[in-house]
Amino acid sequence: MGRSDDLWDVMSTARTVRRFTDEPVDDATLARCLDAATWAPSGANMQAWRFVVLRSSEMRAAVADAAAQALAIIEPVYGMSRPDDEDDSRAARSNRATYELHDRAGEFTSVLFTYQYFDSASELLQGGSVYPAMQNFLLAARAQGLGACMTSWASYGGEALLREAVGVPDDFMLAGHIVVGWPRGNFGPVRRKPARAKTFLDGWEHPADDLFD
Ligand SMILES: Cc1cc2nc3c(=O)[nH]c(=O)nc-3n(C[C@H](O)[C@H](O)[C@H](O)COP(=O)(O)O)c2cc1C
Repeated sequence: MGRSDDLWDVMSTARTVRRFTDEPVDDATLARCLDAATWAPSGANMQAWRFVVLRSSEMRAAVADAAAQALAIIEPVYGMSRPDDEDDSRAARSNRATYELHDRAGEFTSVLFTYQYFDSASELLQGGSVYPAMQNFLLAARAQGLGACMTSWASYGGEALLREAVGVPDDFMLAGHIVVGWPRGNFGPVRRKPARAKTFLDGWEHPADDLFD
């Protein structure tokens, strides 16, 4: 599966890609993802986002450091360890790809998503003004056959590292970070629990089965 202009196909196969070829991401493809990001909604249509493309060797070095810091946090939290070469289980394959992404983090182009902080609203609410942009970016990447992985690298110790390297002003929050590249391997389908298992109807824990029958 490569490119697709079918929205339902794109949404249901926009699986995280962590393994990339050495082919660089061209400006036109990246620019289309960024254009799509700007079509997202934001509170009062403020569009107080700034996207920072990180691809110089200096920025990539900061990204690699941030990735290493995130990995050190993630490993014990998820009980991850580097799998044996002969282990072909789903968990081992997933962990192997995750380690590869973090180990090679300095080789890829990525984008930092920031949003201006206003003290009138919770950070979660303000996050709601930038995460739709990130999702649009991910879907535009998938539609063009570009692989992407949302990361936690702008959090934990990586937040200070990336703030410093990029020069992000204090009144901008680091909302998230996405690595992009041409995939090695195939796209999705995504594996998710059905909506019926996650939806209530007219009250907490009231089953919504009627809705889905
Ligand atoms: C907020 C957020 C942070 C994430 N951070 C990382 C990360 O640091 N490293 C990584 O390999 N994947 C990261 N992911 C990717 C998730 O692991 C992935 O989206 C999830 O497991 C679903 O996998 P799928 O997209 O292949 O279905 C992150 C995803 C989100 C939404």
